[in-house]
Amino acid sequence: MRNWSGYRTAKRDLIRSLSGTVLEIGAGSGANFADLPADVDWIGLEPNRRARAQLARTAPRRQVLDAGAEQIPLPSASIDGVLSTVVLCSVADLPAALAELHRVLRPGGRFVFVEHVAAPRGSTTYRLQKLAAPITRRFDRGCNPARDIQTAIDLSGFSTLQLEHFTMPGLIPIPFIAGAATR
Ligand SMILES: C[S@@+](CC[C@H](N)C(=O)[O-])C[C@H]1O[C@@H](n2cnc3c(N)ncnc32)[C@H](O)[C@@H]1O
Repeated sequence: MRNWSGYRTAKRDLIRSLSGTVLEIGAGSGANFADLPADVDWIGLEPNRRARAQLARTAPRRQVLDAGAEQIPLPSASIDGVLSTVVLCSVADLPAALAELHRVLRPGGRFVFVEHVAAPRGSTTYRLQKLAAPITRRFDRGCNPARDIQTAIDLSGFSTLQLEHFTMPGLIPIPFIAGAATR
């Protein structure tokens, strides 16, 4: 488990490790642009209309797909890297989304993820995450804080190369994973 102070650097280094054609799912307002290498050929995927409008302003010449990660309108093995930061908590069907990420990545392609995840079962944080889930799912864009995203990634056919754990300090400490996997 790494100290939270290392989180920002770990996230930046992971994003900087991407190259070629990169698909960023749930791109939001484009918060990761600053860390992406300048020569990356970026494609965004964002189902939220407002976020897409924001992306059109911040990145007018970039392609943004109006779709969810569960059904990606791109050919198989057409992408060198996939980026997901704080998105997998919100997708409606996590296994379907991961299967799609696996499909669009070329063999050897890199899947970079930075996600908040469920605390260990039985912990106070996990109980609080379970209690909060119905509220956050309804009012925080479908976010399920009690989702075991790491196990889902482990089961989705990727080889995990790198994985670090962080805890965001606070009244309720929130566990995060940051890592990279290959197809
Ligand atoms: C918490 S925001 C994170 C935005 C951005 N990745 C960041 O790190 O700032 C979650 C994003 O996931 C998007 N999202 C929700 N459901 C999704 C889905 N099924 N497929 C792809 N993106 C989705 C939301 O519209 C939102 O932009």
